[in-house]
Amino acid sequence: MKKYIFGQPIETQAAVLELPAEQNPVPIGTIHTDKNHWKMSIPLNQKDVVYGLGQTVRGINKRGWTYTSWASDDPEHSEDRHSLYGAHNFIIVDPVEDPEAKPFGLFIDNPGKVVFDIGDTKRNEIQIQSAPDLNLYLIEGNTSYEISQKFRKLIGQSYIAPKFAFGYGQSRWGYKTKDDFRDVLSNLKAIDVPVDMIYMDIDYMERFKDFTVNNQEFGNHFKEFVDEMKKEKIHLVPIIDAGVKVENGYSIYEEGKEKNYFCKMDDHTSDFIGAVWPGYSVFPDFLNHEASQWFGMNYKMMTDAGIDAFWNDMNEPALFYSETGMKNLKNYLAEFAADPELPRDCYDTFHLNDQVNSIKNSMKDYESFYHHMGDQWVSHDKVHNLYGYKMTQSASDAFKKLRPNERTLMYSRSSYIGAHRYGGIWTGDNKSWWSHLPLILHQLPALNMCGFLYTGCDLGGFGADATRDLVLRFMQIGIFTPLMRNHSALGTRDQEPYRFENPEDFSFLVKTRYRLIPYLYSEYMKAVQNNDLMFRPLSFDFPDDEIAREVEDQLLIGHEMMIAPVTEQNKTGRMVYLPEEMIQIRIKPTCQEVGRIILGEGWHYIQYPENQVIFFVRKDKTLPLVHIPAKRVDEIDYDNLEMVGYMDSEYELYDDDGISSDLDHCNASITIHKS
Ligand code: GLC
Repeated sequence: MKKYIFGQPIETQAAVLELPAEQNPVPIGTIHTDKNHWKMSIPLNQKDVVYGLGQTVRGINKRGWTYTSWASDDPEHSEDRHSLYGAHNFIIVDPVEDPEAKPFGLFIDNPGKVVFDIGDTKRNEIQIQSAPDLNLYLIEGNTSYEISQKFRKLIGQSYIAPKFAFGYGQSRWGYKTKDDFRDVLSNLKAIDVPVDMIYMDIDYMERFKDFTVNNQEFGNHFKEFVDEMKKEKIHLVPIIDAGVKVENGYSIYEEGKEKNYFCKMDDHTSDFIGAVWPGYSVFPDFLNHEASQWFGMNYKMMTDAGIDAFWNDMNEPALFYSETGMKNLKNYLAEFAADPELPRDCYDTFHLNDQVNSIKNSMKDYESFYHHMGDQWVSHDKVHNLYGYKMTQSASDAFKKLRPNERTLMYSRSSYIGAHRYGGIWTGDNKSWWSHLPLILHQLPALNMCGFLYTGCDLGGFGADATRDLVLRFMQIGIFTPLMRNHSALGTRDQEPYRFENPEDFSFLVKTRYRLIPYLYSEYMKAVQNNDLMFRPLSFDFPDDEIAREVEDQLLIGHEMMIAPVTEQNKTGRMVYLPEEMIQIRIKPTCQEVGRIILGEGWHYIQYPENQVIFFVRKDKTLPLVHIPAKRVDEIDYDNLEMVGYMDSEYELYDDDGISSDLDHCNASITIHKS
């Protein structure tokens, strides 16, 4: 691994290994820099594959599009987008056809905007552009898989979630009262869906103010409610947003203001004010160490009540508008209204529309506020992509003090490489669209390459109205992802499992998830400890197989399993490619016996109904399934594991207490299970 330094980079602490600065030129491309720009061109051969970039649109092979690393609150995850919530500047270039050439990885460690044109403008060229101050890491190796593991070593061990976080989570924006939460639990119980987590979206707060609870509902007895849920072995998972409501008398606002812990305008004195859910808000300066430590310690109010799980949101940071942006818009609208000639034609109305829409997440606003880092004031746009990362770290640092011995579930919407050491991420506001099923399959391995192992998408889709078949197909993927949460937006059609006909199908899928947890948790923990990928494209394990290289809707999970989900409506099956002989495992709701068929290498048509679970066990491997599914993760019966796969094969099952943060004291064990 080599490190090259350009200009005076802002230290992001994304990498944890100290490398000396290389003096020789970067061997794999041409670099041009001037006062304001840094640009690198890398030649590609016709068939080279490019992997990486974590959370982005499009395929596993990133070729043929331009991706902009700029953490964005944009719920339209369509293929024409350039940016999503995360900024993960790592790519692997694999010259698959040239036996002389070797793959390499590149990490552009610059927390401002970085543009990756991956053979878009010119088919056979990568062009990367950013501001001139950055650290560049070049990772060499023999295969893409090896490079991804070396990179993971460079950026440090991934976050370890508690084991309960592998259970099912039920969420929906709009649950507000104690009875709403109780109803979710009793409805799930009524249809026999196991569950470990119920999520509290912004309505649990008092007018969307961080670290408060809705007075009328929870008043001073929030802890009693947490305890009530604990008796049912349910972990409540409250949301914490980045923006802090501007309100006199609100202690978090008052204290942060007094101590200058919020981001400032260019006078470095007045607070930057922008609107998010609570209305006008200020933004904690997570890049200022003291401010970050202060914000983190506010989670105490929640952990004191017994909360052990959180999700951090709106931390790109999302800005619906700024105080200044709204003032300008009002002036514009007043001028528009005062001119009797307007609108003259439809272009005037388009312009009006643009003016209104452009106040959201505006670049002008991001350029207008400042962070106090060390003794310097740094303009936000230069460090934009660190904001979500540093919010996650702020929470994680606090949990080390508040809950030193136990793991806390923490995941975030926005992230940068480095954040993977402090929490997981979810993939934000996807939609109830069929195209978002392949999207998560593409994102999972890319996220793993960038260190994010505890991850998953909103099952059923967040925005838009879900249908029963779509939710089931989402669940058939979600039962394999570490984070398995059904979440949806206010105003969309209800999509909890009990909202649909024949809910026993949902119950069956979630129960199957609970049968798989020993395997999934074991592979997750091994991936964390070995800097490995839990989710891999087939090409990582079968680099010489030309067909495997192009398969983007099947994934390897751990070292024993492959999945091939159905991702289209009205399909009852699909073609599946096996790069080697495998055993197809079919689990049906009606039959206790697991179906096993050996299938040879090559293409197969597989019937895959909505209410079954199918996966493939790799040649000469076996994996454990719990015999009888538990209702909660801590009730999983590890003494009755059924091995599925090849006869006379062995599986090394990793397990631990699932909760101790110190891996040396968590009763970790590896047991050998034979089929
Ligand atoms: C954001 C989050 C979403 C949440 C909503 C309300 O859109 O991404 O998950 O439900 O805010 O808090």
